[in-house]
Amino acid sequence: MYKPLEVAKDIYSVGCRDWDIRDFHGYSTYEGTTYNAFLVLGEKNVLVDTVKKDFADEMLSNISRIIDPTDIDIVISNHTEMDHSGGIPRVMHVIGKDKPVYCSKMGKKNLESHFNQEFNFQVVGTGDELSTGDRTFSFLETKMLHWPDSMFTYLKDEAILFSSDAFGQHFAGDMFFDDEIGDEIMPHARKYYANILLHFSSKVQALIQDVTKMGLKIDMICPDHGIIWRKDPAKIIQAYDKWSRQEPSKKAVVIFDSMWNSTTKMARAITSGIEAEQVNVRLMNTRKWHRSDIMTEVLEAGAMLVGSPTLNNNIFPVIADVMTYIKGLRPQNKMAAAFGSYGWSGEAVKILNKEFEAMKLDIIDEGIKVQYVPDNDDIQRCFDLGVKVGQEIKKRC
Ligand code: FEO
Repeated sequence: MYKPLEVAKDIYSVGCRDWDIRDFHGYSTYEGTTYNAFLVLGEKNVLVDTVKKDFADEMLSNISRIIDPTDIDIVISNHTEMDHSGGIPRVMHVIGKDKPVYCSKMGKKNLESHFNQEFNFQVVGTGDELSTGDRTFSFLETKMLHWPDSMFTYLKDEAILFSSDAFGQHFAGDMFFDDEIGDEIMPHARKYYANILLHFSSKVQALIQDVTKMGLKIDMICPDHGIIWRKDPAKIIQAYDKWSRQEPSKKAVVIFDSMWNSTTKMARAITSGIEAEQVNVRLMNTRKWHRSDIMTEVLEAGAMLVGSPTLNNNIFPVIADVMTYIKGLRPQNKMAAAFGSYGWSGEAVKILNKEFEAMKLDIIDEGIKVQYVPDNDDIQRCFDLGVKVGQEIKKRC
């Protein structure tokens, strides 16, 4: 009979793959995702995290291939978001509501708010340890990475870090470890960081520095989504260090939408100007690219240029969607410029500049407005803006 994956001696991955999901609360998941949960066997059997509610029975079935689920002694909840906690009520119903649930102080509050049930909560904080006889678990609160309740659990002797969402990727496949998939996993990890954690980059930096100071030995990282880092856990930590510094690279992203192709023509001319300076550029039509894919490209870009036609004295609705999303994730250290065509009022560029100001981006040009259809001079102005952006990127990045 199929037995769940043993990730280390007597430690099993018992979570589930969600092959079908394509939209994870507004994040495009073209390759599905996983809800990882881990069963640690020993004198006490410990379940670290659970899965989304709909997958709870599948997880229990996985566990039953190893032990009788009622033999689980302890549940650890690293994070309350329901892709990891949704299975807790079902698990507790099966294993017995008197069994302890270890979580942070905010974890207890959030679990109570989510499920309106009293469990045997054992509140832990940074530095607290749980000895199960043959194993020692320690806890590290990671508040706002990415919820107030978030924490890591560290298995001391094995040097395994159960990192909740951190270091995860939305990926469901037939490979389970970093050494199996290789660098193919990095775009997924990058997208995950850009869309889930970028907003909290200063906290990521602080955490990496704290963990470095502590000299925490990490032989394996088991996140709650995607593959397990066993060959080279330092690789994903280094990537997080880089991404959280928000150091811009020699690359621009041109984001646009258009009604009658005028803003499209402007976007293409700007893109050509950037390329003329041998700077990498992505041209992204918001009607063709998902906001979370655009955000992934923005992560390391030195400049973002946004083009919107004016519609009803405002920016175009799809651009507003993308801008709201990007703004919420707080990208830093980027140049910005706006452009767009209009018919009679032409507010879009002004509105976009205000958005850039609010985002504390460096507006390197007042932007370009074109009435109705760009003529050759307008196209040249757009090309020149691209050249200017390319030159600035080369200077600064
Ligand atoms: Fe994977 Fe914050 O949940």
